[in-house]
Amino acid sequence: MNRVFVAGHRGLVGSAIVRRLARERDLQVQTATREQLDLRDQAAVNYWFKANRPEYVYLVAGTVGGIIANSTRPAEFIYDNMLIHATVVHAAHQYGAKKLLYLGSSCIYPRHAPQPMTESALLTGALEPTNESYAIAKIAGIKLCQAYRRQYGSNFVSAMPTNLYGPNDNFDLVTSHVLPAMIRKFHEAKEAGTREVVIWGTGTPRREFLHVDDLADACAFLMERYGEAEHINVGTGVDLSIRELAEMIREIVYPSARLVFDASKPDGPLRKLLDVSRLHTLGWRHRIELRQGIESTYDWFLRAHAGADGVEAPRGDRHVSVQPAWHTSGVTPAV
Ligand SMILES: NC(=O)c1ccc[n+]([C@@H]2O[C@H](COP(=O)([O-])OP(=O)(O)OC[C@H]3O[C@@H](n4cnc5c(N)ncnc54)[C@H](OP(=O)(O)O)[C@@H]3O)[C@@H](O)[C@H]2O)c1
Repeated sequence: MNRVFVAGHRGLVGSAIVRRLARERDLQVQTATREQLDLRDQAAVNYWFKANRPEYVYLVAGTVGGIIANSTRPAEFIYDNMLIHATVVHAAHQYGAKKLLYLGSSCIYPRHAPQPMTESALLTGALEPTNESYAIAKIAGIKLCQAYRRQYGSNFVSAMPTNLYGPNDNFDLVTSHVLPAMIRKFHEAKEAGTREVVIWGTGTPRREFLHVDDLADACAFLMERYGEAEHINVGTGVDLSIRELAEMIREIVYPSARLVFDASKPDGPLRKLLDVSRLHTLGWRHRIELRQGIESTYDWFLRAHAGADGVEAPRGDRHVSVQPAWHTSGVTPAV
């Protein structure tokens, strides 16, 4: 039975990967909560790998957030992510993992990269200043995987997803990304009976969105079929304006709301669309269209917030199948 470690399993992506892997046979999914294993701690991560010997690693943990979180907490974004990437990649090498899939982000590409952005646009220009710390850490993660491949022959691959959304997303208005933040804003306006919903920026920037269940499927596909040093884009290849997105969410959540765009707030890059032709050539395409994905995500949001039976609690303590050795043996790792 293959041992598969999902690092970051309580998050949006990690929980979707755990759901996706549940469909596979002969596979033991290994997880550890942040409280059990701080992935920034190399000694603890080494100890965990030594005890649990994962053969396949999905490295999808990290400090993640939208424009406000990125611009107000740049130190956390660069420190946490650089350490998490380094400790897990190093331990995967040290304890002989057969393969590791590292997840970056489309933020790695230069602010003025030609659209749609191909993989070769990496490091060809200046980054978007509002999330530069995060992007630098994510680029370092790609280079880390490539360096271990070059020096040790490690089969470590990197995938760069576009904006993601879906069940288990972060709906906090301060730290979340644009799509879940909009769902929440429309929902709260409907609950409060407020007609006006204020959207940050002018509404003109264009963005691409991928349902996290599609991403998880792409990750499983790449873990099985992709073995190149170069990172690979994962997206739909389709974008829409923030205004169009807001109109779509309004139709689903609160059709009688009135949209107001606050142009005093930052827009970010005008367009961010991934070129996904390499992924399409390999044979993978997304299945969940945006409207359908938003409808099911809103449904999840309603059930999760109502505490409905059978709905996973957001960020709950779930899927914990493997205890770190020191939890069962009483041994504390040398730090
Ligand atoms: N969300 C997006 O739109 C998007 C887009 C492109 C790329 N990505 C990439 O996808 C990956 C996952 O993102 P996500 O949206 O799933 O984020 P998320 O929902 O915030 O989940 C992050 C996970 O990492 C864990 N984590 C963070 N710091 C940790 C630490 N020090 N020790 C142990 N665990 C730690 C969190 O644990 P807790 O549950 O304890 O908080 C959580 O389970 C990231 O690499 C991100 O760059 C995300």
